[in-house]
Amino acid sequence: MFLRPLLMFFETAVFISRVFGQETQSTPSGFNWDVIKYVFASGDSYSFVQGTRGCTNFSFIGDALNLPFTPQELLTDEIIPKMTSSEGSNWLEYLTRCFSGQPSACPRQLWNFAFAGADIDKALLPLHHEFTVPLVDQVNQWATYASNTIPHPPAQTLTTWWIGINDTGDTVDNSTITDINAFWELEMTSYFNAVNVAYRHGLRNHLFLNVPPGERAPATVNNSTKAAIQRFRILQFNTILARHISSFAAAHTATFGFANVTGFCTCADPAGFFWYNSGHPTEQVHEVLAKAIEAQLHLK
Ligand SMILES: *[C@@H]1O[C@H](CO)[C@@H](O)[C@H](O)[C@H]1NC(C)=O
Ligand SMILES: *[C@@H]1O[C@H](CO)[C@@H](O)[C@H](O)[C@H]1NC(C)=O
Ligand SMILES: *[C@@H]1O[C@H](CO)[C@@H](O)[C@H](O)[C@H]1NC(C)=O
Ligand SMILES: *[C@@H]1O[C@H](CO)[C@@H](O)[C@H](O)[C@H]1NC(C)=O
Ligand SMILES: *[C@@H]1O[C@H](CO)[C@@H](O)[C@H](O)[C@H]1NC(C)=O
Ligand SMILES: *[C@@H]1O[C@H](CO)[C@@H](O)[C@H](O)[C@H]1NC(C)=O
Repeated sequence: MFLRPLLMFFETAVFISRVFGQETQSTPSGFNWDVIKYVFASGDSYSFVQGTRGCTNFSFIGDALNLPFTPQELLTDEIIPKMTSSEGSNWLEYLTRCFSGQPSACPRQLWNFAFAGADIDKALLPLHHEFTVPLVDQVNQWATYASNTIPHPPAQTLTTWWIGINDTGDTVDNSTITDINAFWELEMTSYFNAVNVAYRHGLRNHLFLNVPPGERAPATVNNSTKAAIQRFRILQFNTILARHISSFAAAHTATFGFANVTGFCTCADPAGFFWYNSGHPTEQVHEVLAKAIEAQLHLK
């Protein structure tokens, strides 16, 4: 009830691409929010939260000139309450109920790598500031410095993607882009390379949000020429994004997320492996098994 007007304003389609199981894009059957314990976020000002080790008004931790951090620095970084691009908390904080302090103390841990003013890829659009961390680099920052520190068991982890708000704004007056669809395809290549980096590091549940109608924002609504261009470009961006989400989901339909059911990996993070060694399944198999048994036990 309460959310309805907000969602109508945003016209934001939410896709949950459940690639852990057999489900296809936007049909999150089997996905269980109740068991989600870890949320990894990427994105721009609409998503970032302020951390005590972040760049003021831009990030939870670090910036482009200070990407690395130690496990200890990450674990002791604290979310500063009500310091987002709104006057208060943001959607990720409401979603996780992780409003302040160390994320590890929250019932659902919010590990937020979104950076205010981010575009997708600095190779495609100029950074807003020399310290801006675009989406591609946010994911690399997580993979390099955080993925070994913060647990991310497949069934208990959700990754959120909300990017393109700045890209669609920044390109309105860019006359060197003559074929905008081709440009969005380039952006999607970078975007989904980043999604695949996350996937290769074991992230299996992905929530994609598309670009809301920014042409209705006060900065643009008073210029009908600009608003018309931006509206059209956002529609194109979202159309191409939806296609890439579908392809990504289709390319990762491995049953229960097991991409490898013949080999094994006797290693700390055998993501995607069914077998831990030549005769014993991985933890992920035990987790799937337990869930299936639990579902049976709940049957009345
Ligand atoms: C951060 O944002 C707040 C609210 O807009 C502003 O008052 C403050 O000056 C900003 N801080 C810096 C260092 O820019
Ligand atoms: C993109 O990010 C900047 C911060 O660098 C912000 O001020 C600007 O309003 C954003 N652009 C759009 C179109 O939302
Ligand atoms: C315009 O877009 C091109 C990519 O086609 C980019 O190289 C260039 O830096 C952009 N210019 C501005 C001002 O954003
Ligand atoms: C539209 O409003 C914004 C502030 O909301 C202002 O910066 C911009 O100059 C205005 N544009 C026109 C064409 O009046
Ligand atoms: C309105 O937007 C167009 C396209 O972005 C721009 O070229 C023009 O300068 C803007 N008009 C005003 C009055 O700001
Ligand atoms: C499965 O893992 C084994 C051992 O790492 C590897 O040799 C094999 O190529 C993998 N198979 C597939 C289909 O990825």
